Order: sequence, then structure tokens, then C-alpha cells
Amino acid sequence: MKVLLTGANGYIGRRLKQKLLQEDVSLRMLVRNAKSIDSDIGAEVVEGNTFDSASLDTALEGIDVAYYLIHSLQQANYKELDRQSAKNFLDSAIKQGVKRIIYLGGLGIKEQASEHLLSRIETGEILSSRPDEIETIWIRAGVIIGSGSASFEIIRHLTEKLPVMVTPKWVSTLAQPIGVDDVIRYLNASKDLQHSSNLVVDIGSEIMPYKEMMLGCAEALGLRRWIVPLPILTIKLSSYWLNLFTPVPYKVAQSLIEGLSSEVVIQNDHAKQYFPQIEPLTFQQAVKQAIKEMEQNQVFSRWSDAGGGEDIWQENYRDDPSSAILLDRQSLPLDGLSKESVYRTFCSIGGKEGWFAYDWLWEMRGWMDKMIGGAGLNRGRRDSYELRVGESLDFWRVEDLIPNERLLLHAQMKVPGKAWLEFKITDDELIQTAYFYPRGLWGRLYWYSLTPLHYLVFGDMIRSILERAELKALEK
Ligand SMILES: NC(=O)c1ccc[n+]([C@@H]2O[C@H](COP(=O)([O-])OP(=O)(O)OC[C@H]3O[C@@H](n4cnc5c(N)ncnc54)[C@H](OP(=O)(O)O)[C@@H]3O)[C@@H](O)[C@H]2O)c1
Repeated sequence: MKVLLTGANGYIGRRLKQKLLQEDVSLRMLVRNAKSIDSDIGAEVVEGNTFDSASLDTALEGIDVAYYLIHSLQQANYKELDRQSAKNFLDSAIKQGVKRIIYLGGLGIKEQASEHLLSRIETGEILSSRPDEIETIWIRAGVIIGSGSASFEIIRHLTEKLPVMVTPKWVSTLAQPIGVDDVIRYLNASKDLQHSSNLVVDIGSEIMPYKEMMLGCAEALGLRRWIVPLPILTIKLSSYWLNLFTPVPYKVAQSLIEGLSSEVVIQNDHAKQYFPQIEPLTFQQAVKQAIKEMEQNQVFSRWSDAGGGEDIWQENYRDDPSSAILLDRQSLPLDGLSKESVYRTFCSIGGKEGWFAYDWLWEMRGWMDKMIGGAGLNRGRRDSYELRVGESLDFWRVEDLIPNERLLLHAQMKVPGKAWLEFKITDDELIQTAYFYPRGLWGRLYWYSLTPLHYLVFGDMIRSILERAELKALEK
């Protein structure tokens, strides 16, 4: 069986990829940046996107089953983009003779759906709209519980940070969560299902209100928490609240909060009927599994790993911000330190390790970012040591990684322009460069007003990297 996986860098796609690599299939992946995926894992990689018909045709050529795990939620015009993306995918899949599309959407009833969910439903309807030419299995999941999932991260952060939680009244709305490993099982089993027409399969474990999920998560973390629902909390206020206390930016918080007002429980028993071999974990088991993965530093994918929207790969500057017009460059000699130890040291930047110098200034910048709806610092990093191209790191994203040579970070914080931070090792030097491409006058004012801080922060940062690398070398 020839299988195409789209969204292979996304939260679900990354985990499904691991599963499919163990299956007896020939796997191809469509990604927007080929550098963001390992090319030597035994799967074919096609670089492209659903708005480029030539790359779609190449990706779908000769494919039997195609997974559609794409959305553009973080972009302002996501509804139109998602509609067009699904149409393009369907047209190309039919043209290339694909037999089955498997799509993962959200649970919920159309008449009560939030805008975000409505768009996910529309995508499913488009993909299922030509049953005579191609069959579509549409799996629908509600809250997904797993390490790194947006919903779970929100519940966990609120539970850990706030002993008493003041919540909107919708915490009493019913939902039917499911563990991420079970979602992957259903998606994987869908490719082998003996069935010859369209099918909608709703998946979930037990039904419970959001309030119970939060208290259940607290219990699994060994914490006692109190929840006080307040009817006066509006969607806007609650979204700011989530934005401040959890790692999700305002826009993501808003679409999630909007979704809380309507029930998300399963509407059919097709999961039991067609996949009787899958017995989903209970909510408590799924939470414990997620916490275990986090504690063991084994978070495989996170909601913030994919580009999502505003910052889709920077075509104009990809890997090379050197045409940015403002920069701060510092360099220091390696003085006998190995390239490997210096590389490993700067790759441990961010998260719990901090930013090597003036961490309190970085913290302040993170809070300022949160106040204006940005991601802030508390997305942290997935793994304390390892990095991969495309993943988020505090309020940056890894744009390029060349072992023992280079780390390029692209800023995802709210700035009036585009910013990058690069660490580069030459034969005898470490070169650290902050690049900035300002937007208008405000962008320039922003950069020049920060010059004194850059002098302190960046100067200390490069010194501290070399000192730490030296310490590590001595410890060996
Ligand atoms: N995560 C959840 O909690 C959850 C819950 C219920 C249902 N779902 C559904 O599961 C599906 C996957 O969600 P996810 O959370 O895994 O999403 P995600 O992490 O945001 O990943 C989205 C993926 O789509 C890719 N993409 C976006 N636009 C594209 C385009 N035009 N062409 C090609 N690729 C494009 C992105 O590629 P880049 O890497 O290049 O950015 C990324 O890999 C969605 O349909 C979602 O509604 C998710």
C-alpha cells in the first residue's frame, strides 16, 4: 500500500508518521519545508503545499491512501484557506486515482459549532463531497489528551499555576476527551478498514464536563484545586486569561474558548462498530501517560511545532536572513574548544536552561509579548538537549540546524518586523548575529531603542556560551 501523509510536522502527523514507519506500507510525506523532516527515515519526502497544484500532483501520484492532517487556524483568513486547500487536495487526489482519503476533524454538531469547528466540518464535507470518485473516512475527535497537545497544555498550566480557578460558566459543558495514542490507532487502522463508501467515525472515551477534566488532571498531578465558575467571564476576557497563564497565544485561546460553549460528544457508534479492536484509554490513564512522557522528557510532538500561519516558512529569507538590514554581530575565538561542545551548548538555549545572560530581561520580554497576545516565553522547549528544524523554542522557532556549525532561530514574538538570532561556528570563531528586518519607522525606532540592551544581552550571551562550553569540556 502506498500512503501519503500530509501535516507530517504537525502535532498529530508527527506521531502518525512514527506509527506508519512501523507498518508494511510505502510512505511518502508532503511537507512545506523539506529541511524540517529527516530524509533518511525510510520514507519519501515531497516539498510543496496544497496551494501548489504541481507539488500536490507529484505527492499524490501512485498513492492508495492519503491522510489529510492540515489546517491554517493561526491565519486570519483560515476559513477560506482551509476551504481552498481541501478542494485542491480532493481534485488532485481524484485526478491521481487515490482510493481513500483519511481526515481527522473535530467533534461537534454543525448547528452549535464555533467558527473554528465549522471550518473543520466544512473541510470534512468538501473531502467527502465526491463519494462516487473517492471514498473518505472522516474521524472526528474532541479534546485530545497527550503530552504537548494544546488542550492538555492549557488544562495542565491552569491546574499547576492556580490553586483557585475562576472560570467561565462553560466549564460545565460536556465533552468526550480521547488519548492521543488512541487517535493514532484509529487513524492507522482506517487505512486497512474493509469498507467501500464514505464513513464518519466519532471517537472518544468517557463523557465528562471540562470542570471534571481539570480536577482529574489536578488529581493526577497530586494537587488539590478549586473551581469557581463565574457567569460574567466573556470569551474575550477568558481568552486573555488563558493567554496570560498558559503557553497558547491569544488567537488559539480564543478559538478554543469559543468551542467550549457547545457540547462535543460523539454522535455515532461507528468507532465500536468498525474498530472493535480499539479500546480507548480512560481520561485518567491518558493524563497519566501524558505526564509520564513529560517527566521522562519524551514529548514527541507539540501543538506549537507546526508553522501554523503568520510565520509560514519565510520564503524570501529561508535559511538566509543576511539581507536583513539591521544587525548586531558579535564574535569570539574558540580558543581550542571543540566545535561539538560549543554547538551543543548553544543548542541548549531557552526553556529551563534560560538565555545564558540577563534571563530576567528575557522574562520581561516574554511577559510583554503575552500582554499583546503573543506566545511569550512559556512554550519552553520540547526536549532539554535535542532540537529539530521547525519546532518552537520559547518565543522562537528553529529555522535551520547544521550539526556542529549553525543554529538559526526565527522570532515568533510580536515585533515590528522580522527578527532572527544565529549562532555560527567557523574554523576558529563563534559568531553570534541578531538580524532585524524592520517594518516602517516604528520598526527602526524599536530596534534603535533596544541598542543599549542588545549591547548588554548579546555581549554577555556569547561570552557565557563559551564559558559554559569550557566548563562542560573540563567536567568530561
Ligand atoms: N491537535 C488537536 O488537539 C486536535 C483535536 C481534534 C482534531 N484535530 C485535527 O487534526 C488535524 C491535525 O491537527 P494538528 O493539531 O496536528 O495540526 P498542527 O499541529 O497545527 O499541524 C498542521 C500541519 O498542517 C501543515 N500545513 C498547513 N498548511 C498547509 C498547506 N497549505 N500545505 C501543506 N501542509 C500544510 C503544517 O505544515 P508546517 O509544518 O509546514 O507548518 C502542519 O504540519 C486537524 O484537522 C485538526 O482539526 C486536532
